Amino acid sequence: IKLRKFYPSFFFSEKLLVLTVATEETDGFRRFMQSANYFNYTVKVLGMGEAWKGGDVGRSIGGGQKVKLLKKAMEDLADQEDLVVLSVDSYDLIFAGGPEEILRKFQQANHKVLFAAEGLIWPDKRLSDKYPSVRSGKRYLNSGGIIGYAPYINRIVSQWNLHDNDDDQLFYTKIYLDPLQRETLNMTLDHKCQIFQNLNGAVDEVLLKFGTGRVRVRNTAYDSLPVVVHGNGNTKMYLNYLGNYVPNAWNYEHGCSHCDDDVVDLSQLKVSYPNVLVGVFIEQPTPFLPEFFQRLLTLDYPKDKLKIFVHNNEVYHEKHIQRFWEENRNVFSSFKVVGPEENLSQGEARNMGMDLCRKDATCDYYFSIDSDVMLTNRQTVKLLIEQNRKIIGPLVTRHSKLWSNFWGALSLDGYYARSEDYVDIVQRKRVGVWNIPYMAHVYLVKGSVLRNELKERNYFVLEKLDPDMALCRNAREMTSHREKDSPSPESFHMLRPPKGVFMYITNRHDFGRLISTANYNISHYNNDLWQIFENPVDWKEKYIHQNYTRIFTENFLEQPCPDVFWFPVFSVKACDEIVEEMEHYGSWSGGKHEDKRISGGYETVPTDDIHMKQIGFDKEWLHFIREFISPVTLKVFSGYYTKGYAIMNFVVKYTPERQAYLRPHHDSSTFTINIALNNKDTDFQGGGCRFHRYNCSIESPRKGWSFMHPGRLTHLHEGLPTTNGTRYIAVSFIDP
Ligand SMILES: *[C@@H]1O[C@H](CO)[C@@H](O)[C@H](O)[C@H]1NC(C)=O
Ligand SMILES: *[C@@H]1O[C@H](CO)[C@@H](O)[C@H](O)[C@H]1NC(C)=O
Ligand SMILES: *[C@@H]1O[C@H](CO)[C@@H](O)[C@H](O)[C@H]1NC(C)=O
Ligand SMILES: *[C@@H]1O[C@H](CO)[C@@H](O)[C@H](O)[C@H]1NC(C)=O
Ligand SMILES: *[C@@H]1O[C@H](CO)[C@@H](O)[C@H](O)[C@H]1NC(C)=O
Ligand SMILES: *[C@@H]1O[C@H](CO)[C@@H](O)[C@H](O)[C@H]1NC(C)=O
Ligand SMILES: *[C@@H]1O[C@H](CO)[C@@H](O)[C@H](O)[C@H]1NC(C)=O
Repeated sequence: IKLRKFYPSFFFSEKLLVLTVATEETDGFRRFMQSANYFNYTVKVLGMGEAWKGGDVGRSIGGGQKVKLLKKAMEDLADQEDLVVLSVDSYDLIFAGGPEEILRKFQQANHKVLFAAEGLIWPDKRLSDKYPSVRSGKRYLNSGGIIGYAPYINRIVSQWNLHDNDDDQLFYTKIYLDPLQRETLNMTLDHKCQIFQNLNGAVDEVLLKFGTGRVRVRNTAYDSLPVVVHGNGNTKMYLNYLGNYVPNAWNYEHGCSHCDDDVVDLSQLKVSYPNVLVGVFIEQPTPFLPEFFQRLLTLDYPKDKLKIFVHNNEVYHEKHIQRFWEENRNVFSSFKVVGPEENLSQGEARNMGMDLCRKDATCDYYFSIDSDVMLTNRQTVKLLIEQNRKIIGPLVTRHSKLWSNFWGALSLDGYYARSEDYVDIVQRKRVGVWNIPYMAHVYLVKGSVLRNELKERNYFVLEKLDPDMALCRNAREMTSHREKDSPSPESFHMLRPPKGVFMYITNRHDFGRLISTANYNISHYNNDLWQIFENPVDWKEKYIHQNYTRIFTENFLEQPCPDVFWFPVFSVKACDEIVEEMEHYGSWSGGKHEDKRISGGYETVPTDDIHMKQIGFDKEWLHFIREFISPVTLKVFSGYYTKGYAIMNFVVKYTPERQAYLRPHHDSSTFTINIALNNKDTDFQGGGCRFHRYNCSIESPRKGWSFMHPGRLTHLHEGLPTTNGTRYIAVSFIDP
């Protein structure tokens, strides 16, 4: 109401018609139409379905076909004096405001024809001097946006008599620079971006402006709110970023408003599930690979619809793949492995995987996943298919870091740049489906896209030959001195969207995490045991007892003798791998009194053991004590804060043949932990522990459970004889 009072009412009686040229329904075109429909623009699309002959606009001159089509369309509109025509590009353009605002601003400009302006001159720099000078604002014409009364626009475009691949901008520029025409056709430029914002050369001038409901772009140089935002030149990526918000794609109040557009519901599918080829890439030694494969197996997707292609570049992992293959070879529709003997580069392997889907007409989707992606969400493949995008990846991040599998922005020289929203997306403070410039590690591509937009093979060509890959590698090298939280440095085999295709990352769900493959030492027997620092979440999942956390939530522990506490701490895998590691090392001490490993060289109550230090596991073991034993200590001996310090950390082996028992003794510790590493009755008979002061024995130790008891004074104890088989325990004397 206020607007109508303030501005004469004739503004609103005028009509606005948007004309745009698009020969294909690209993702960019759909985005343009989405913003146009949101504001109820009347849009007429010219040229749809025609072959594009207008040259490669953006890199070389061209675009004449656009003028030709506009000329033809204007012939029918030439006599509509009240009609305002807005001619804009569509593939790289978004509306940020509505038709009434455009008409109002056009009126205020007080000219018959208004062109978009920009700070860079194109395509002929020599014309610079001919431009009228401007005191402030953009000086040069950009033909991506023109607004004017129909008869005037017609008088301009009717002058066109060139070829389809001649330059449209040069054509308009010459007319504009002719002083006579400039006056008679009453033309000017939108110098201060009241209506048109060209992003080329102006990325630093614009910001997102979040309002209630709607998001705009604000030009900070002229303090204007442009209505038409154009990602001309090298700024397509930046427009994609803006398009994640403008005009209503995402805002703080309502979150994502297009996330559910065009989704498919697999549960409503009449026909069977789509066929998916899963490409698995093991390009470097990767911790927790057996767990990675288990997660593939537990994906919630019909297994007969999954074909598996594995590229394994590591001899070390052949045993893991072999084991998985033997157990699950008949589970999937097919299972193909290309091993290290093929000597494929990473690029060649990735091409091969994509190609298998591309050449198989029944392949509906290609799901590429690297071995460092721990998908914890079993629905991932379904969720990605349902989102129905040409290329989409699930967000995965490094635990408690800001590293992820996508880049939010590229700097203008092509290096990694942090987008304003990167951290919020990674931390899922902004949730949605995001159009992004690069991603890696895990993504889903439609088979049809591989056979069309991505049909050139060798998408991942050797990095030597491909400038984009070289670029990413440069970026990787640069990131070795990178800011702490920039994305994963290993991921230089990134996917970049093919021309005209948008590439998305979704963080609408929690999908999983990226594990670290750095510092993975594979010279131990069970290498994942050493991953407690590098990959703590996966370490805990693999090695800590399923019921450990219930100690704190449900008081899940026992007290079989006074001040002897008994609780679950290790998983079966942890127990088995520690025993294997010790047997692999093999140098048991023999239970002798002389012991060079300890200071003084003499042990009064010797056991047949191997110290954690001997297998290089002492730092990891102490960390385990601090992380998982200290909290239990605090719970059962309240008020006692352990430093988690221990010199004596070892695995003891009891057998009737060597050493079967240990005579009564005190430990040189404030408290001791004693973890059973195998099972009574199946692995050995006898065994257990007896505390003399209380005349109390525990004769049925449980694998993975630990005792915790004071070391001195009150808790004189002995190891009861193992009568058959071999019994293993892990012991630490804590706070000696
Ligand atoms: C567009 O038109 C619809 C239906 O007439 C209306 O509900 C909506 O508010 C309009 N949108 C805008 C931005 O004016
Ligand atoms: C352009 O047209 C407007 C009316 O639309 C008029 O007021 C103005 O004087 C004209 N300018 C020139 C330079 O002719
Ligand atoms: C593997 O390929 C690399 C580079 O293509 C080559 O230098 C190397 O000799 C090859 N190794 C074997 C064992 O074929
Ligand atoms: C890897 O582990 C072995 C065996 O414990 C050790 O000798 C070696 O120094 C370790 N390598 C690195 C790089 O830490
Ligand atoms: C955890 O405790 C439940 C009973 O509370 C038991 O059924 C389950 O087997 C335990 N998990 C393991 C790994 O022992
Ligand atoms: C110790 O306990 C056992 C049974 O648990 C009992 O037979 C024995 O007499 C007790 N010894 C002492 C010294 O109390
Ligand atoms: C000792 O264990 C083995 C196998 O673990 C079993 O065959 C044998 O019968 C056991 N001996 C005794 C005396 O229990």
